[in-house]
Amino acid sequence: MEKRLLGKSGLPVSPIALGAWAIGGWMWGGADKKDSIRAIESCLDHGITSIDTAPIYGFGHSEQVLGEAIKGKRDRYEILTKCGMRWEGTKGEYFFTTNDNGGIQRDIYTYSGRQSLIAECEESLKRLGTDYIDLYQIHWPDETTPIEEAMEAFRILLEQGKIRAAGVSNYSVEQMTKASAVVELSSNQEPYSMVRREIEEDVVPWCLENDCGILAYSPLQRGLLTGKITPDYPFAPGDSRPETPHFKINNLILTNKFLEKIRPLAEEKGATLAQLVIAWTLRQPGITVALVGARTEEQVKQNAGALEVDLSEEEVEMINQKLDKLQLEL
Ligand SMILES: NC(=O)c1ccc[n+]([C@@H]2O[C@H](COP(=O)([O-])OP(=O)(O)OC[C@H]3O[C@@H](n4cnc5c(N)ncnc54)[C@H](OP(=O)(O)O)[C@@H]3O)[C@@H](O)[C@H]2O)c1
Repeated sequence: MEKRLLGKSGLPVSPIALGAWAIGGWMWGGADKKDSIRAIESCLDHGITSIDTAPIYGFGHSEQVLGEAIKGKRDRYEILTKCGMRWEGTKGEYFFTTNDNGGIQRDIYTYSGRQSLIAECEESLKRLGTDYIDLYQIHWPDETTPIEEAMEAFRILLEQGKIRAAGVSNYSVEQMTKASAVVELSSNQEPYSMVRREIEEDVVPWCLENDCGILAYSPLQRGLLTGKITPDYPFAPGDSRPETPHFKINNLILTNKFLEKIRPLAEEKGATLAQLVIAWTLRQPGITVALVGARTEEQVKQNAGALEVDLSEEEVEMINQKLDKLQLEL
């Protein structure tokens, strides 16, 4: 798989990256560790070298599993992880509260204080079993800490060689502008899929203008755009998807009707719907990486195959016209 360079950092990344949120289990109804390790190992066979994780994904579990899976092969992967979401102690300002798989209520909050980020980096390095992180990202904006302070921590970590590139996630244009005044901002990781296109308005133009990469997260809209999610889909207990707006029954039915309209194009190309959706994502202006989650080797293999799906301008336009008619209740 040909690599792409992430923003001005020049960090080479695979255009399709593996997202390891589900591998953490939390909010996804658990995860099978053997499958997770095999999924990560198999990435290399299919040209995926960039893996995105975060401490919050399973409260350290996703990073730990990733560390195990890449042992002895660390230099063949790019590790993208995050910081700034805490779950120990309390800060009084909760980002959200939810049940983890063990049913324990946790108070989760954003915090991007300088010392805290530096300490978090050490914890992640330990869990990942490495001495550097390729891309370090602020997971969510922390309204209580100046962005400049968080970026100052990143500047120090860059100087120390503990991180190779600095990125953010879920940042607005205003927040990216502030961040990029302190460090060279490589990327912003944002929600982006056929049914979630808000960033086209301002984030994408800003990133194009400022040579900042975009990692499009949840491009399959958490599995919905594979076409497999039926109204009676058997979600595991603890899987948060049924509670999210895109999975509400009306939206699910409307989305599946839309997918049936583009299925003939997928079939014509010998592709699955998931592959067509990922290929469309990578054709959109400003999108550097499609950050696709997968739990198994089979999903990794299929998703990597999206790079072989060639879409013409007319085909992208045809999909967009059908998308324009899709009115979800969000
Ligand atoms: N920065 C942030 O705030 C943020 C937020 C969300 C996500 N992310 C990142 O983005 C990554 C991707 O997003 P995501 O995991 O939310 O959603 P996604 O990539 O849209 O969907 C991933 C899920 O879809 C299912 N799936 C994947 N490939 C499939 C295939 N070929 N056939 C059938 N089902 C398939 C799998 O779940 P099942 O098998 O259970 O259906 C998988 O876990 C995350 O892992 C994470 O790294 C970041």
